[in-house]
Parts: sequence; C-alpha cells; structure tokens
Amino acid sequence: MDEAELALFYDAPVFPPTSMEEELKQHWAYLDVRDALKSFRELFHFPESKNGAEPIYFTGNSLGLMPKKAREYVDQELEDWSRLAVEAHVNARHPWLPYHEFLTESIARVVGAQPIETVVMNSLTVNLHLLMVSFYKPEGERRCVVIERGAFPSDQYAVESQMRCHGLDPRECLIELAPRDGESTLRTSDIVEMIESRGDEIALVLLGGVNYYTGQAFEMKEITAAGHKAGAIVGFDLAHAAGNLKLEMHDWGVDFAVWCGYKYVNGGPGAVGGAFVHERHARSFDLCRLAGWWGHDKETRFLMGPEFKPLAGAEGWQISNPPILQMAALRASLEIFDEVGMDALRQKSLRLTGYLESLIRDIGDARISIITPSDPEQRGCQLSIRVSEGGKALHQKLVDHGAYCDWREPSVIRVAPAPLYNSFKDVERFSEILKQCLA
Ligand SMILES: Cc1ncc(COP(=O)(O)O)c(C=O)c1O
Repeated sequence: MDEAELALFYDAPVFPPTSMEEELKQHWAYLDVRDALKSFRELFHFPESKNGAEPIYFTGNSLGLMPKKAREYVDQELEDWSRLAVEAHVNARHPWLPYHEFLTESIARVVGAQPIETVVMNSLTVNLHLLMVSFYKPEGERRCVVIERGAFPSDQYAVESQMRCHGLDPRECLIELAPRDGESTLRTSDIVEMIESRGDEIALVLLGGVNYYTGQAFEMKEITAAGHKAGAIVGFDLAHAAGNLKLEMHDWGVDFAVWCGYKYVNGGPGAVGGAFVHERHARSFDLCRLAGWWGHDKETRFLMGPEFKPLAGAEGWQISNPPILQMAALRASLEIFDEVGMDALRQKSLRLTGYLESLIRDIGDARISIITPSDPEQRGCQLSIRVSEGGKALHQKLVDHGAYCDWREPSVIRVAPAPLYNSFKDVERFSEILKQCLA
C-alpha cells in the first residue's frame, strides 16, 4: 500500500460520529470506496451461504478463510513429493528441511517479535505445554498460576495438568481473575492490583491476548510489567490476538506466547501454530525442556549423536519435523500479511468494528447487549453480543440468512469482521439481518 492510499485510509471517519458531516460519512459505500485494503478480499475463497445470497463471513475468529493461493502452494509441495520423493527435503522448490524458516520472519512481524523469538510449529495447546514445561517452575510459596476465570477450557486443562505433574493441587494454586459483580470484563487495574497483592505466590501469569468469549483484549504491556515486578513469568495465549491486534511481544517484554494458525492467521483447518520465546531466554539452555531432534543444532542434527544440543531461540523448542503441506497453506496466508502489514490491518479493523458496534447499538433492542469493551484499545475485531432470551434461535436465524457468526454457551453470539476480507457493506448487511431477525 503506498502513502497516498494510506492517507485516504486514515482519513476514514471514527465512530460514533461527532458531527452531521461525520454522520453522512457513515455509509458503507463511502467507507468501502475509501478502504485501502478492499482488494485483499479477492484473495480469499468465500463459502456458500445458507440462503444463496452473498455470504457474510464473520467467523474468522474460529476459522479464517482460505487464501486462493493456498491450493497452488500445497499443490507445489504435492508435485515435488511426487517428482522428487525423499530428495525434496533438499531439492524441492522450497526445500523441506528448512521449510519452517520460510515462515519465521513473516510470523515474527505478525506478533511483533524478532525472528529468533518465533517458530511455527505444532498446535496451540501442545506449544502451551512445551513452554510451561520450561517456564512454569513452582518453587516454595511461589507456585500459583493466574488465569482468567472463563479462560478457554484447553488452557485451563493444560495449566491444571501441569500443576498435577508438579504434585500440586490446582484448587490451591490456580488464581482466577473474575470481573466485578455486574461487569462482564476485567479491569486492568484489578488485574494489576491482584498481581501486586499476591505477588509472592505467583509463578506464572497466563492470560489470553483476547478473551475468546468476551472479545476483551488485555493490556499486555501493563500486565507483563506488573507480572515481572512481582517476580513472575508472563505468558499469553494469542489464539484470538495473532493476526488481529497490533502486537509487540518483544517490546512488551513478554516471556512466552503461543497461538494457533487457523483463526485470523488463515492457515487452514488444524493449521500449524506458533510460539514466541523472548530473546532474553534464547540461550537459556539449562531450562527444563522436552527435547526432540528438530530442536537440535542444525549443523550436527544428522550426525545422529546421542547428546541433545538445543538451537538458540524459539526454534530450540521444536520436537518433530514439521508438516510441509500445512505449512505450505500457511505460507500463502503469511504472504498476504506481509503485503498488508499489521498497522494498516489494525487501522481498518478499528473502523470496521467501530462501524459494526454503532449499527448494532442503533438497533436499540433491549434483548441484545455488547459485552466486549467499547474502548477500541481493549478489543480486536470481535464483538460478543449477549442475548437475554432466545439467543440460540437468533443465531440460527442469522445463519439461515447467510450470516456466518457463532454461538457460545451460555448466551453469546460472536461476530468478527476480519479486516483482511470483510467490507463495510458486510457490516451494514449484517446489522440489517440482525434487525430483521430480532423483529
Ligand atoms: C483461546 C484458545 N486457546 C486454545 C485453543 C486450543 O487450540 P488448539 O486446538 O490449537 O490447541 C483455542 C481454540 O480455539 C482457543 O480459542
């Protein structure tokens, strides 16, 4: 995107409007014309909708759309497999031995890291376990883990099982952060206060970058600083943050983070996830870790010696040789991220979600309320709409009208206009459908 395009883009209005003139600008056609990222929509396949109309795809927070290039890139690896078989490890157009390295710099840009701090590998919960083996080190009184109450269940299972492996009782060692009575999301000041007040007990602070249910984005910089001040390690589950927020994992000083590749990163079903380990731990070779040959020094890996010598940086946490076909699909997606850049993506996202929020509020139906923070700094593109009655049926109606969104028990419809491929028209159409379905 050149500067002139960006200038147009930054000129887009903010929500809610502050004047009549601004209000006139709040029309999807006006906004779409000025959307500097609109052409990226063409790079993705959209699914069919239930009613045959153009689909509205607001579930990129669950499974991102397929980049059209993914097929070509996967086909290329299949061809190289058929033509070269084992020799493709070295002679494929993208040789398989170093394949994950083709993705490192791009994914590092997505999460705001240095290349040595990131690696594309495994899936999220596996990576969470691998990094907790290294970074959750309960000792004496310092053995608690802070998580959100209502964290994604897999995180909770992972944390509790790690505690049991250390001979600890999760009922004593899990500190769950809950919103105040009558509130749906956490206040940063409450999180920080809790970390300060129980600092001596905390071994690890482990939060989502964005809570999957409420859509709240946590203020990771402040939380990391508070965790470190208390002497704890700080990690984040970026499942709903990678490819969604402008992240600065390195600058914020986060110790470790993990994410999946199938949501906003658009790497495909079961896509390879990733891990971040801050540079200051890059050469901490004495950390406890589960070792495997792909984490071993590349120069001597094929000497097949018995002694494990970990690679420096995040790569040292790899265990097995990677799934090339999955990585090929991910490569297609990361090329798009390289072209767009997280700054521009986030700028569009702020406007797209702001627009959606204002249109939903305009519906003015008391049965629905948005529980995601209204402060744009505390959310990504997702809005979570709490429905006081008949939520599941309402969700089904939306789907039947061609709007992809999802239902999360007990009472929330999640809608996520992903800025890479959603338009302001999508947002407008969604709010119209929502209004009709409520009527
Ligand atoms: C916040 C969060 N954490 C963890 C997971 C689990 O991911 P995986 O199945 O890749 O381990 C998900 C999956 O949707 C998630 O949303």
